[in-house]
Amino acid sequence: MTEIPEHLLKRSKDRKQALGLGGDDAADAGGAGGGDGGSNAPVAAAAAPAPKPSPLDKVPAIVDPEPEPPAPEPHYVTAAKERKRMPVFAMLLVATVPIWAMFYAGTMQAPPEGETIFGEAAVLYAEVGCAGCHGAGGAGGVGYKLSDNEVVATFPEPIDMIVHIARGSNAIDGLAYGDPARDGGVRVSGARGGGMPAHPNLTVHDLELIVLHERVTLAGEDTSSEAYQAWIEELEAHSNDALVGDHLDDLLACADPTYTPEATASAEDFKVGDFICPGPHGHGGEEEVAAG
Ligand code: HEC
Repeated sequence: MTEIPEHLLKRSKDRKQALGLGGDDAADAGGAGGGDGGSNAPVAAAAAPAPKPSPLDKVPAIVDPEPEPPAPEPHYVTAAKERKRMPVFAMLLVATVPIWAMFYAGTMQAPPEGETIFGEAAVLYAEVGCAGCHGAGGAGGVGYKLSDNEVVATFPEPIDMIVHIARGSNAIDGLAYGDPARDGGVRVSGARGGGMPAHPNLTVHDLELIVLHERVTLAGEDTSSEAYQAWIEELEAHSNDALVGDHLDDLLACADPTYTPEATASAEDFKVGDFICPGPHGHGGEEEVAAG
């Protein structure tokens, strides 16, 4: 039989004691001498009444404690619960407000009509340098004031204005241009000291957009005529990328000699060969409504 080493026995005993399993001598004695009769009984009895603590006592209770009855809700919680709530779809709508606001703000500077090309036109007017001489808002500077209908008074038709800008004023130095019956007298090129440079490198399309910007956005021209609306739609749909410098003769053929020195008015149905005259084809309401 193997001897259990003394130190192991001691350790076991200590362990039992630690667990409250009665590793003490008295209990041992009681246990060992269980059948010895009376002499040990008082000891056993003395030990017995103290109910042996169960090792389970040391284990945390697994059974959930009795659930406490819910404390009565504070009145404000009840009120909050009963209050009508924003439905989810409405929250989503609210979440999109900033996005909508951005787009809406974008439309605030929207042009009167024709939408996008007016924005493009405004950018061109600034980028090409017109604004440097005529003012960002067309109030004038080195060049004439364009706003408040001024430019429309000089050029009742966009085509004559287009030719004037393309050719510049030095080419017609000393000659009258624009409406001969203009309020305050007819314009004479060079009368203002410095002339306006020619703009041969603009495309026909860009020059049309710039003219549209000056006349409609800056000068406030009425665009309600059919011919004017058709022009705006045409500008939105197509782009004539020919350079005005390559088509000065064609432009002169489209223009009216009453307003444009050296114009030939030889275009037929607003065409010079393949070249389609820029500007509205007939200024609705006025005498030049397109024939046929
Ligand atoms: C360097 C300055 C300068 C620049 C740049 C310039 N202009 Fe001018 N513009 C003038 C001057 C000066 C006149 C008057 C010329 C004259 O009568 O001799 C004039 C005249 C005009 C007129 C005639 C106005 C009227 O009522 O008689 C129009 C329209 C015009 N400019 C449009 C434009 C446009 C569009 C651009 C840009 C593509 C432009 N200008 C760029 C200086 C400039």
